[in-house]
Amino acid sequence: MANVVIIDHPLVQHKLSIMRAKDTSTKSFRQLLREISHLLCYEATRDIKLTTKTIETPLTSMEAPIIEGKKLVFAPILRAGMGLLEGMLDLVPSARVAHIGLYRDPETLQPVEYYFKAPEDLNERVVILLDPMLATANSAIAAVDKLKQRGANDIRFVCLLAAPEGIAKFTATHPDVKVYTAARDSHLNDHGYIVPGLGDAGDRMYGTK
Ligand code: PRP
Ligand code: URA
Repeated sequence: MANVVIIDHPLVQHKLSIMRAKDTSTKSFRQLLREISHLLCYEATRDIKLTTKTIETPLTSMEAPIIEGKKLVFAPILRAGMGLLEGMLDLVPSARVAHIGLYRDPETLQPVEYYFKAPEDLNERVVILLDPMLATANSAIAAVDKLKQRGANDIRFVCLLAAPEGIAKFTATHPDVKVYTAARDSHLNDHGYIVPGLGDAGDRMYGTK
């Protein structure tokens, strides 16, 4: 799994276990997702390039490190990706946002696109795709296809849970996109749900079931 980073930090794993439990409330689920996204953001931006800028401290001038290039772009896949976005913006408040509207047809498990709005200069920015769930990978693959069509050439993908089937398909289709996930679960069930998983992320975030 050369292109997959499993973020096994104890805080991430502890929070994830609470999120998986079926009795965890909608309010707690949302709060935990926001907290975990801080930790995932920290890992997924670890190798962002730095440059330096001359600043004056109260004592002297120095060459101080700052992030190189244009602002990052966070690209949540609606709906559930919005749960990761809030925490990412807590850490990188000046980032730009690309909204990708996709839902998974429950029969075919194929993604259906309904919205896309992104900054025009994606080719000049690091893009971080956000979706808590990598199941069949059909949604994430379609999202990356779309971002690449619009010029993005430096993309990474942050999720919370990934199925082995989804990881294999995604990394084979987009080998240039590194995947950051908190866990690699056992398998997909007959309905394309991750097992043991956490259920439907969007429904658990928004209390729609
Ligand atoms: C969920 C999830 C991913 C997708 C993952 O979204 O948030 O986008 O399924 O499945 P895949 O890897 O098999 O494509 P869903 O379609 O349920 O939409 P929602 O976020 O609006 O609930
Ligand atoms: N989407 C979800 O929200 N959960 C899964 O387990 C699979 C796809």
